[in-house]
Amino acid sequence: MRPYIKGSTILVTGGAGFIGSHLVDRLLDMEAKEVVVIDNLFLGSEENLSDAISRGAVLYKDDAEFASSLEYIFERHNIDIVFNCATKALNYSFMNPSNSFETNTKVILNLLELQRKKAFSTLCHFSTSEVYGTAVYEPMDENHPRNPTTLYAAGKAAADLAVETYVRMYDLDAFIIRPFNNYGPRQNFKGEMAGVIPLTAFRILNDIALEIHGTGSQSRDFIYVHDTVDAIISVYEKLHRGESVNISTHNQITIKEVVETMADAMNYKGKIIQKPARNSDVFCHNASSEKLSKLITFKLTPFSEGLNKSIEWYVKAITKG
Ligand SMILES: NC(=O)c1ccc[n+]([C@@H]2O[C@H](COP(=O)([O-])OP(=O)(O)OC[C@H]3O[C@@H](n4cnc5c(N)ncnc54)[C@H](O)[C@@H]3O)[C@@H](O)[C@H]2O)c1
Repeated sequence: MRPYIKGSTILVTGGAGFIGSHLVDRLLDMEAKEVVVIDNLFLGSEENLSDAISRGAVLYKDDAEFASSLEYIFERHNIDIVFNCATKALNYSFMNPSNSFETNTKVILNLLELQRKKAFSTLCHFSTSEVYGTAVYEPMDENHPRNPTTLYAAGKAAADLAVETYVRMYDLDAFIIRPFNNYGPRQNFKGEMAGVIPLTAFRILNDIALEIHGTGSQSRDFIYVHDTVDAIISVYEKLHRGESVNISTHNQITIKEVVETMADAMNYKGKIIQKPARNSDVFCHNASSEKLSKLITFKLTPFSEGLNKSIEWYVKAITKG
């Protein structure tokens, strides 16, 4: 029987990041006994956890790629459940493909070995829609072939296989959730790692011309981060060992539409420059959420509402410096 979240001690790797920090907040709301985070602050920040820390969450600024860094945390805390969010952003794999792959595979192998040695009970691993690559059929369900186009996605696909194989070999209580493109407050807006929504907000607020790579007709399934966390919490009790589920909305929005809607909402009157298409950019991510909607009742935030909440947060976060 899977431990209840209420009353459990829970480790979130990468919990100072975007989705992880929202998950930490939710686990505290659900009265987890203790929430522990390991994050090397590659992209995450202590600020994302300021509220959570004031409510008792514990942050270890350490690297989960080292088995020993996880081991001492397990010695100090009686962990029941692990949510594995740690990763280095997709864009990093264009600069350092090898370490991008390593992060995505080493952290999960460290965790699976700890779980095999009975250090904890249940593992929820975060995969990504990127493992599917460009759609060979649409919408992409959980049986879609894994065709990674970046080393980031290759590492994630390898991690999926590792989870599935450890479950088969050792009957571990581990399962995989596979989010599509998340957006919302706390998503990183700085530097080369920023995704399209935060980057567009940053550019508008700093009077920098907007950019679209390629034609802008490449599409993604954008999901509001709180909806993702809702879905994860709901599937936690339902998903069987070794199974995976897409966390998606079943709607696609083109990058051009996103940029233009944001320009409109933020009253941007400047240029939108067309840049060359990025090598290895997945063209279309049309997700099937059929499995998810059979498992749980799912209420989605409309894109315009989520976008307005995100813009509100970006205006505060970016203008304060
Ligand atoms: N954001 C999305 O749209 C999206 C989509 C699909 C899947 N996912 C998956 O969800 C998870 C969370 O993504 P996110 O958007 O919150 O990313 P994020 O970059 O905001 O969070 C990842 C966190 O992991 C930390 N980290 C990196 N390397 C680490 C290491 N070696 N040890 C410890 N911590 C480390 C980073 O500092 C960061 O805080 C990831 O596994 C990601 O692949 C995200």
